[in-house]
Amino acid sequence: MSKLHADYYADSMHQVESPLVRNEKIAEDTFLLRVDAPEIASQVVPGQFVMIRLSHTDAPLIGRALAVYDVINEESGKPKWIDLVYLRKGAMTSALASLPLQTKVTVWGPLGNGFSNRECDHLVMVAGGIGQTPMLLLGREALGSQTFGSPNRKNGWSDQVTLIYGARRKGLLAGVSDFTDAGFDVHLCTDDGSEGEQKLVPEVLAEKLSAMASEVRVRVVTCGPEIMMEKVAEICESANVDCQVSMETPMACGIGICFSCVAKVKQDGPEQWDYKRTCVEGPIFDSEKICW
Ligand SMILES: Cc1cc2nc3c(=O)[nH]c(=O)nc-3n(C[C@H](O)[C@H](O)[C@H](O)COP(=O)(O)OP(=O)(O)OC[C@H]3O[C@@H](n4cnc5c(N)ncnc54)[C@H](O)[C@@H]3O)c2cc1C
Ligand code: FES
Repeated sequence: MSKLHADYYADSMHQVESPLVRNEKIAEDTFLLRVDAPEIASQVVPGQFVMIRLSHTDAPLIGRALAVYDVINEESGKPKWIDLVYLRKGAMTSALASLPLQTKVTVWGPLGNGFSNRECDHLVMVAGGIGQTPMLLLGREALGSQTFGSPNRKNGWSDQVTLIYGARRKGLLAGVSDFTDAGFDVHLCTDDGSEGEQKLVPEVLAEKLSAMASEVRVRVVTCGPEIMMEKVAEICESANVDCQVSMETPMACGIGICFSCVAKVKQDGPEQWDYKRTCVEGPIFDSEKICW
């Protein structure tokens, strides 16, 4: 199949207009938004995202990407709603934070490739800032407590899941009880020491990896500020550990058309790289492929 085949243009996505079912503050400047999107909920796999726009206004004109944080089933067990968690930052997220329930938003997805479900003994997820958002679904899938995708992807592919999650301060840590309730071993870090360890998440990762027995098959996934992911990638490379990163380059269309989202990705052959669209060929990449 040619690399420009229509599959690369998100042909299987759905666009829905849904009233907000929930839009509530869950931490400092951080909100959880729930939309009724059964088509997206039943197809999404961990690490995929949706694009969101406000239905009633053109401001902001361009949609924003948000990772799918959770999938909620209706009573019959069928996936019905998706939850998104956003940090109030600029135009879109400030507008979203002020929307009353029942306001309509337009959402299209699921988009992107998602994390792989390669088997391992111990999945270590490293999140910084608002980078925890794709981790809940992945950890649940790894432990076998939830299945995703249509047809369902294999789950139960890791015995243990650890989340190393850092933020500037305690108030910005969002959804911690969701992660502990899911059975993850959660390690919190803050820059000011107001919660957990006063360390940066890559430091904690390095300590954990060096404390693990060499026969344990570890996989690392990471999402957060690029500088943090670069450090995580470096640590994994020197420890010879499989690592995937979720790139958060700004996106305009989310479906492969505009090339606003490209990242430099290494190609086969020495010193060779190409621009790849993180919305369709990512946002998940093997860390050693990224030209940081
Ligand atoms: C795959 C993916 C998944 C994501 N998942 C999440 C998620 O789960 N939760 C989440 O909160 N975010 C997520 N993001 C980020 C999200 O898409 C938005 O970028 C973010 O929410 C900010 O949008 P905004 O409209 O509020 O801010 P914007 O108004 O777009 O501003 C964002 C920042 O950029 C600066 N800025 C804006 N325009 C310019 C400019 N022209 N030049 C220089 N600086 C500028 C602003 O000052 C601000 O600091 C994800 C991004 C990607 C690509
Ligand atoms: S956001 Fe348009 S091509 Fe990726």
